[in-house]
Amino acid sequence: MQIKNTAVTFKESKGHEKLSMLTAYDFGTAKLVDEAGINGILVGDSLGMVMLGYKDTLEVTMEDMIHHSKAVSRGAKNALVVTDMPFMSYQTSVYDAVVNAGRLIKEGKAQAVKLEGGLEVVDKVEAIVKASIPVMGHIGLTPQSINQIGGFKVQGKSEESGRILIESAKALEKAGAFAIVLECVPSKLSKIITESINIPTIGIGAGNDCDGQILVYQDMLGMFSGFKPKFVKRYSDIGEEMKKSFIEYDKEVKDKVFPGEEHGFKISDEIIEKLY
Ligand code: KIV
Repeated sequence: MQIKNTAVTFKESKGHEKLSMLTAYDFGTAKLVDEAGINGILVGDSLGMVMLGYKDTLEVTMEDMIHHSKAVSRGAKNALVVTDMPFMSYQTSVYDAVVNAGRLIKEGKAQAVKLEGGLEVVDKVEAIVKASIPVMGHIGLTPQSINQIGGFKVQGKSEESGRILIESAKALEKAGAFAIVLECVPSKLSKIITESINIPTIGIGAGNDCDGQILVYQDMLGMFSGFKPKFVKRYSDIGEEMKKSFIEYDKEVKDKVFPGEEHGFKISDEIIEKLY
């Protein structure tokens, strides 16, 4: 029997069992991910890029996140649904952070929220947690800061930036976060961070010593034909399969092969004769 994953079961899993997470942005995919027994679904603001075709995540709005989060929550029975707080929904003030986190729970039906940043966001994390909303942190490569960090680059490679990441992870734990995503962090640094805190780390491009892993599902299925990051493992090539089927359909329509007789509905000849 599958257990219902919660922020509490995530915390309890540390040191016992690895956690699996995938992104999803719609009901159907969420249902498949949930039925596969994945522990958590992230309604990531990556939806801006993989679903809406934006060049980065900065344009994504609260309305976008609520709309997709609601759909995902209807498809997820046992997986924990975590929804991303979009750019400028929490950076502006502690008040905005709590109000917008609340909207993702009340309107988006999420069970937890995720926000990006380390030491600079601990006041927001603390306030959201005080409002009884579980928070997942996200440090390392934080795509909402793309203009500040100058691109999608590995983070924490110098002694100073490595120390800042370790301190950030500790501060997020102290502020009440129940887990932390480590994105594009050198594997050996991720191990130190993971061993420094008592809440699970969820890695993406952060090596195998994290307490769990997350991938964007279009990346692992070969459905996003843009850039393929080094950390992505392709588990199948669904994008190519989809394209092949679309081409075959197009040909069959033009060659008048589809629809066949078996795809149509019958009516009595007597009625048809009257209609001519
Ligand atoms: O938005 C997203 O999909 C994410 C993951 C890459 C962790 O934040």
